[in-house]
Amino acid sequence: MNILHTSFECYPLAKVGGLADVVGALPKFQHDFGFEVNVIMPFYNTPFITKAKYTVNDEGTIQLGDISYAYEIRELSSPDIGFNTYLVYIPHLLDRPEVYGHKDDIERFIAFQLVVLDWLNLKKGIPDIIHCHDHHTGLIPFLIANAYQFQNLKNIPTVFTIHNAQYQGQISYDKLHYLPDFDKNKIGLLDWDQQINPLAAAIKCAWRVTTVSPSYMEELQNSANGLEGLLRHEKAKCQGVLNGIDTKSWDTETDTMLIENYKISTVVSKRTTNKEWLCNEFNLDSSKPLFCFIGRLVYEKGADLLPDIVEESLQSNDINVLMLGSGNKEVEERLESLKDTFSGRYHMYTGYNERLSHIIYGGADFLLMPSRVEPCGLNQMYALRYGAIPIVRRTGGLKDTVVDIGDNGFGICHNQATVQDVCYSIRRGVALYSDQKKYREIQQEIMKIDHSWNRSANQYVNIYKSLITLT
Ligand code: ADP
Ligand code: GLC
Repeated sequence: MNILHTSFECYPLAKVGGLADVVGALPKFQHDFGFEVNVIMPFYNTPFITKAKYTVNDEGTIQLGDISYAYEIRELSSPDIGFNTYLVYIPHLLDRPEVYGHKDDIERFIAFQLVVLDWLNLKKGIPDIIHCHDHHTGLIPFLIANAYQFQNLKNIPTVFTIHNAQYQGQISYDKLHYLPDFDKNKIGLLDWDQQINPLAAAIKCAWRVTTVSPSYMEELQNSANGLEGLLRHEKAKCQGVLNGIDTKSWDTETDTMLIENYKISTVVSKRTTNKEWLCNEFNLDSSKPLFCFIGRLVYEKGADLLPDIVEESLQSNDINVLMLGSGNKEVEERLESLKDTFSGRYHMYTGYNERLSHIIYGGADFLLMPSRVEPCGLNQMYALRYGAIPIVRRTGGLKDTVVDIGDNGFGICHNQATVQDVCYSIRRGVALYSDQKKYREIQQEIMKIDHSWNRSANQYVNIYKSLITLT
């Protein structure tokens, strides 16, 4: 089977969040199962991509309305990535350091998708499956089915994964001319709320739709940022497949980003070196329990609650709190300003830092995830594997991966995304930490939980196989 993943992110080439981790790991596991797996993504000017070696495989031109864009398909020469990677190079449009946040993002998303399809049209060997990720690639299932130019590709089954339904990539109709000619009777397939909606188009046109946890799939039926009715209507072809993590890269015994490596049998003696490093680096007290947060500072993650959580929990508990993230400027400023008030027990690192995130997973005692919406969440799985007890709100993938200690589980869960609920959970964490015997038992237990893609990658393979038999 020949599988093609199309995505705007893929670790380690370009990462903004969990989408990159998934597209950097799932194909690796599928490749190890013996399939031919290819990933196609934009060529950005990220540090990894600009240093990488590649060969130019194909060239062509696409048309976005009146503007022509020449492109190259650059094949990455990096065998250790674990799958074949093709990079779409469009000078001045895609080759920028930042993945998102440009005023011409819509043009960039559409141009990328047109290149993928134009390239497939040129190629002799076409994939058995095209697996598209998130709204940036959501027009592909529609274009394959309805654009005259891509009729040769019509029989390739498409799978579309919703990583986050909050982001839908809406496009106003004055940009309709960017799309190649298609059967105009089918225009309704693009539409949602009088806009072109790539996420909605993908849900309507992909052969199968998945999302990244079973609970999130259920939640989407009632809350999908306006698409709940559509998801209920398309329910029969939708399935929740829980994400996995790349247990080869995320391994406490070999992770080169950690200060000290450890395993279950040495967790008590060696893991503490990582905590001590964090405490020295950020002026914290290593004798006290360390509660951390890592993530995008956005409403969905409950980021607006964090400043009050920090304030209240530090006032009433003898703990340290360490934050790593960036996003909403007001939240960033409030979290920064608390450094003076709680000097010696609190620190905020504003920004993105992959290495620091690994040391936090490998040194924190607890990891906070007060998410309002969490389609899957990878942080809690990294925390479990690295021995940090997750404190999560019961939602989406968090509900599917963390069981409360009160229910014979291994984490701390709360129902509401409120300051009170999170602070109550932190107090439960403090109580657990004070019983070191129990804390250490749970820590060793969580490190054994298997969240590798071995568990879930097969579910995708079964979906692909069921679609290929239809062709
Ligand atoms: P989302 O994709 O919604 O941001 P996930 O939990 O799926 O959430 O994945 C987030 C990924 O991004 C994890 O690998 C996490 O460690 C990483 N991450 C998030 N924020 C930062 C940051 N500021 N620095 C380093 N890594 C981060
Ligand atoms: C999205 C979601 C996150 C999920 C990730 C990978 O970014 O917000 O919950 O883990 O995609 O699927």
